[in-house]
Amino acid sequence: EGQNKGETDHSMIEGHMSHDQVVSLNDSTGKNELKIPSLLKSEKDEEGIVYTVRAEKGKTEIFDGVESDTYGYNGSFLGPMLRFEKGETVKIKTVNELDEETTFHWHGLEVAGDVDGGPHDALKPGEEKIIEFKVDQEASTLWFHPHPMGKTAEQVYNGLAGLIYISDNNSERLELPDEYGENDIPLIFQDRTFDEQKQLNYNAAKNEDGTIGDTLLVNGTLNPKLTVNKEKVRLRLLNGSNARNFTFKLNTGNSFVQIATDGGFLNEPVTLNEITLTPSERAEIIIDFSKIQTDDDLALINEEESVLLPFEVSNKSASTSKTPVEMNDFSLTEEEQDLPVTKTIELFGMMDMVTINGKKFDPKRIDFTQQQGVTEVWEIYNKPDMMGGMIHPFHIHGTQFKILSRDGAEPPENERGWKDSISIKPDERVKIAIQFKHKGVYMFHCHILEHEDNGMMGQVKIE
Ligand code: C2O
Ligand code: CU
Repeated sequence: EGQNKGETDHSMIEGHMSHDQVVSLNDSTGKNELKIPSLLKSEKDEEGIVYTVRAEKGKTEIFDGVESDTYGYNGSFLGPMLRFEKGETVKIKTVNELDEETTFHWHGLEVAGDVDGGPHDALKPGEEKIIEFKVDQEASTLWFHPHPMGKTAEQVYNGLAGLIYISDNNSERLELPDEYGENDIPLIFQDRTFDEQKQLNYNAAKNEDGTIGDTLLVNGTLNPKLTVNKEKVRLRLLNGSNARNFTFKLNTGNSFVQIATDGGFLNEPVTLNEITLTPSERAEIIIDFSKIQTDDDLALINEEESVLLPFEVSNKSASTSKTPVEMNDFSLTEEEQDLPVTKTIELFGMMDMVTINGKKFDPKRIDFTQQQGVTEVWEIYNKPDMMGGMIHPFHIHGTQFKILSRDGAEPPENERGWKDSISIKPDERVKIAIQFKHKGVYMFHCHILEHEDNGMMGQVKIE
């Protein structure tokens, strides 16, 4: 469920991770302790600049004793964690130290169009730009990545991606596991292909329909393992792949709870046996390791039963964190449910022939306008082709929205929360209620990065 269906199914055609690259369940050798992104220090200077984020080239030892050429933020691969508090004003100096244009896009952040970092905001090599915004949304796990015209897929592939945590009074009140790197663990899942020299050779690996890799990296760690205490542990999952869908479950069959969607907490924890995330979707889950009895290895696995992340459970139990019952007051109001559809979006095609409403992206064309602060209902339809079609993960910049219905039915319980990216199956029709707090031009697009680069993107202007 939730995976691509139809004959162009990625995971079926080429999605099998090769067995020499992915650890098998009983393999306890050669595992590397999971890397945890460092927290980016705020360093207010006279100009009030709080953070500096640099896109850089570097060399990273992903495989023992070999250096791979990579990109990263403030380092050679991936990026640090940015921690914002609701209500604070953040000033970030963004610096492009690459040899090519890039942008700094804050995925899921509700900010004005001119600091959103879409394709219009390219910085040339050596350029820098200071942006400022007020954090005006609830506690959530967001991320940032580049968005240059036609080059997003390659730059993300090479390593440009980082996480953002937002906290607020509510998240403090909840007493959830929140010790960063201890029982509050960021997890960026990405699949990559390395050539014989152990290089990320994007042009060789590239697939116009979404580049699928044979090697799994979690936070940039090859063959990772995570050591946890015998207690509740919060995992913040991000599918940071260019195109692969992940279905996460425990090899023991134990359930876990989901506490948050892309943009905030669910009203109550939702008990699940598995969860599927398409590219750019996030979920926060809590696994209670004190409740899992097993003499065997314990791991997060995917639906093909390949190991995604093995756990080593220690005997310690340090924290007294809770899983609260009432976490949020998210609701679908009657008013929202009664609104007529005012914008329809049709996703269609495959390979480099992908379109939205029959058109390819044109940076000079505004596809829709909407009034600031006014809720509208958009209907997004994934039109199948003769081959059946495939899932498109659909993302809208600059806001969080609510799913009203999937094919006329109520959204599943774990999607009754703020979303900025949703998976849409072939022939599925999804209605969302959407409002923008700020003005500006925002992208909406498929988050299969090759589809995005191939023009499966449009723009809405908020006035
Ligand atoms: Cu994750 Cu247009 O972005
Ligand atoms: Cu797509």
